[in-house]
Amino acid sequence: MELSRYILILLFFSLLCSASACSNGECQLGDKCLSDGDCGAGLYCFDCRLEFSGSKCVRYTVSDPFKVVNNSLPFNKYAYLTTHNAFAIDGEPSHTGVPRITVDNQEDSVTQQLNNGVRALMLDTYDLKGDVWLCHSSGGKCYDYTAFEPLIDTLKEIETFLSANPTEIVTIILEDYVKAPNGLTKVFSKSGLMKYWFPVSKMPKKGEDWPTVSDMVAQNHRLLVFTSMKSKEQSEGIAYQWKYMVENQYGDDGMDKGKCSNRAESPPLNDKTKSLVLVNYFPTVPVKLTSCLQNSMALTDMLNTCYNAAGRRWANFLAVNYYKRSDGGGALEATDLLNGRLLCGCDDVHSCSVSVSSTFSTQRLFFFYKFLLSFCYWN
Ligand SMILES: *[C@@H]1O[C@H](CO)[C@@H](O)[C@H](O)[C@H]1NC(C)=O
Repeated sequence: MELSRYILILLFFSLLCSASACSNGECQLGDKCLSDGDCGAGLYCFDCRLEFSGSKCVRYTVSDPFKVVNNSLPFNKYAYLTTHNAFAIDGEPSHTGVPRITVDNQEDSVTQQLNNGVRALMLDTYDLKGDVWLCHSSGGKCYDYTAFEPLIDTLKEIETFLSANPTEIVTIILEDYVKAPNGLTKVFSKSGLMKYWFPVSKMPKKGEDWPTVSDMVAQNHRLLVFTSMKSKEQSEGIAYQWKYMVENQYGDDGMDKGKCSNRAESPPLNDKTKSLVLVNYFPTVPVKLTSCLQNSMALTDMLNTCYNAAGRRWANFLAVNYYKRSDGGGALEATDLLNGRLLCGCDDVHSCSVSVSSTFSTQRLFFFYKFLLSFCYWN
């Protein structure tokens, strides 16, 4: 071939590439970007520094299985993204007047978490200043300098979300240190959340299925609350978590590849008299920089490990730190995967709903597009 023809071909492809370089909300998952505005819906521009240089469009939303598929199955047939220490938010101003000296686990407000598809929140509740506070502490005691905010503030955010989203269900999992009599009940009553309360008497006690989501919505039983304090099921009607749920080890010990064993308080993972399965996947000390890696590939491996450990049951709750940090799909994609597995044995919840022919043509178009784009990198 003559040199001029090479030049012509090169010129053709460079034109093609400059035409497909993305911006203004056109960038897809994994495309390079400069700002959030470059990325398409459900994506933002994020720099997972340890894995790639520069920023890429990554996900920040979970697909809603009730909407993508349907809500006619029992509550325990779906997976819910769970934020570990949902209240320990980076940048939350001090509410005690004393600067806070403790770590954070998340980066956006509980309202944003819920709007992005988080459906279960882990909250640590303590007695402080004659009220109940959300706090990071040790030894069961909260201090001014470890407190985040009064529980009521967070519960009000949840109430606002549930009232604005009448087909959604939220689960609260409490690491509970409140000793004040009826301390929690008082705050839940004040928050306006009691009208959504799922009664303990209706919770399956022998591993049966939960009511269907559509029934729960019809009854307005759209708030599930679990406590780590056994006595409160009797005294306040708040479900004792490990009577209904199995859970793996949390922190560093829960991140060993190929291992998934129950935390001390939980029955063994394969105890099928508990209908719900919770998988924790976060290090003991939350580190922002590494969380995008932790929330990515190894997370899916752990879900498979825990599936086998739980007697071939997929997780219903997946709890992580910094839930939006990933190298692409992260915990958001992992939750879509869990819903795909639970609802139709597929790798993604979207495969449970779209017809075969439309998947096929969309996929073909996508591959063609990627094929064209690959010339850009080749160039
Ligand atoms: C809802 O989706 C599930 C999972 O795909 C399916 O088995 C079930 O038949 C669907 N129910 C209705 C009412 O469409």
